[in-house]
Amino acid sequence: MKFVLYTSVLNQEHYDVMAVPAIVRTARTENSIHGITGVLLFDGLNFTQYFEGEEETVDVLWHNIQRDKRHKNIIVVLTGHQEGRLYDEWGMGYIDISDNEIDIESCISAADFSVDTFKQTISRLDVE
Ligand SMILES: Cc1cc2nc3c(=O)[nH]c(=O)nc-3n(C[C@H](O)[C@H](O)[C@H](O)COP(=O)(O)O)c2cc1C
Repeated sequence: MKFVLYTSVLNQEHYDVMAVPAIVRTARTENSIHGITGVLLFDGLNFTQYFEGEEETVDVLWHNIQRDKRHKNIIVVLTGHQEGRLYDEWGMGYIDISDNEIDIESCISAADFSVDTFKQTISRLDVE
């Protein structure tokens, strides 16, 4: 399985937070068709998304995501291949981290960062 973990920023010049439910809706429908699983975190301004699936499917989605005008400043945190999936429970779990003390920034910049520490860090949060 290939995975991509990235961060980005909502393009506030053109879109507000109301754009996010539509993104999540599309993601859920499309991802369940294409066998993509993962999780999308949003704090009111910043996105952190992890997604995984078959290589070609991930590449197509990544291409689409990168040219999506609803967000900007896209930064890849980690990408690679791994055995099996980290998430098989949801097409795309959504986590609103605006009311959380969770510090994604320090999690992803930690020296020992891995997708496993990422999953562990967000595991106590409620998935919508
Ligand atoms: C932060 C963010 C996350 C997204 N996550 C997904 C996703 O997981 N799955 C998906 O199909 N589209 C996702 N999208 C939407 C894609 O960028 C794109 O609109 C969608 O794949 C449809 O592509 P198309 O309009 O080029 O056909 C996301 C968009 C943004 C801004």
